[in-house]
Amino acid sequence: MTKQTSRSSSTPSRVVLVGAGGLIGRSILERLQTQGQLDDVVRLSRSTRPRLDLEDPASIEQALAALAPFDHVIVAAGEAHFAPLPELRESSFTLGLRSKLMGQVRVALAALPHLRPGGSITLTSGALSHAPARGSTPAALVNGAIDAFVRGVAFELQDGRRINAVSPSWITETLLRFDMDPQQGTSATEVAELYLHALRSELHGSVIARIPDA
Ligand SMILES: NC(=O)c1ccc[n+]([C@@H]2O[C@H](COP(=O)([O-])OP(=O)(O)OC[C@H]3O[C@@H](n4cnc5c(N)ncnc54)[C@H](OP(=O)(O)O)[C@@H]3O)[C@@H](O)[C@H]2O)c1
Repeated sequence: MTKQTSRSSSTPSRVVLVGAGGLIGRSILERLQTQGQLDDVVRLSRSTRPRLDLEDPASIEQALAALAPFDHVIVAAGEAHFAPLPELRESSFTLGLRSKLMGQVRVALAALPHLRPGGSITLTSGALSHAPARGSTPAALVNGAIDAFVRGVAFELQDGRRINAVSPSWITETLLRFDMDPQQGTSATEVAELYLHALRSELHGSVIARIPDA
C-alpha cells in the first residue's frame, strides 16, 4: 500500500495547536518554529481569535471549521482538579471530565472531517494514569480515558490519518510551581519533542511517553 503523505514537501503544513500559550504549548511552538518546516501554525485557546474553549463544543466546531483544512492538530491543554482521598467527591471529577477529557474528545471528533489525508491528531494525557501522586486520582482517571480513546479511534481510523496521545511525566517548571522536588521532572523541551515525534513518525494509536530507540 502506498503511504499517504500529508502534502508535498514544498507546501507548508497547517498545524492547529490548542494551548499554544501554555508551558508545553510554548515549547512545541518553539520546536516547530526553529525547525522551520511547519510554518503555518495556528494558535488556539480561550484567549485567542478564533477562540476555542475545550468546555464549549460550539467554539470548537466553529474554530476548526474556520481553519479547515489542516494537516495536524495538537491539543496541549485541558484542566483537571487535584484532591486527596479524604476530600474526593463526585464533583472533584467534573472539571477533568468536562475540560481535559471531553474537551479533547470533542476536538478530535470535530477535527477529523477537516483533516487532510496523511494528517494527524495528537492529544495530551499524562503519566499520572500509571504513576499516581497524592491527590492525583481525578487527573489519573482522565489521562487513562484519553489513552483508551486514542487506541479505540485508531483501531477504526485506518485511512492513513493518525491519532496518538503524548503522556508527559511531571515537567520541572510545574514541580517547582507546586513546591515539589524538581529532580524528578522532565524539561518542557524534551516533552515538546514527543509531540514532534507524533507528527512526523508513522505512529498511530500510540501513547507516547518517550521517543523509541531508533
Ligand atoms: N505541566 C506538566 O507537568 C504536565 C504533565 C503531564 C501532563 N500535562 C498536561 O498537559 C496539558 C498542558 O499542560 P501545561 O502545563 O502546558 O498547562 P498550562 O501551562 O497551564 O497551559 C495551558 C494552556 O491551555 C489553555 N487552556 C486551558 N484551558 C483551556 C480550555 N478550556 N480551552 C482551551 N484552552 C485552554 C491555556 O490558555 P487559555 O488560558 O488562554 O485558554 C494555556 O494556553 C494539560 O492537559 C496537563 O494536564 C502537564
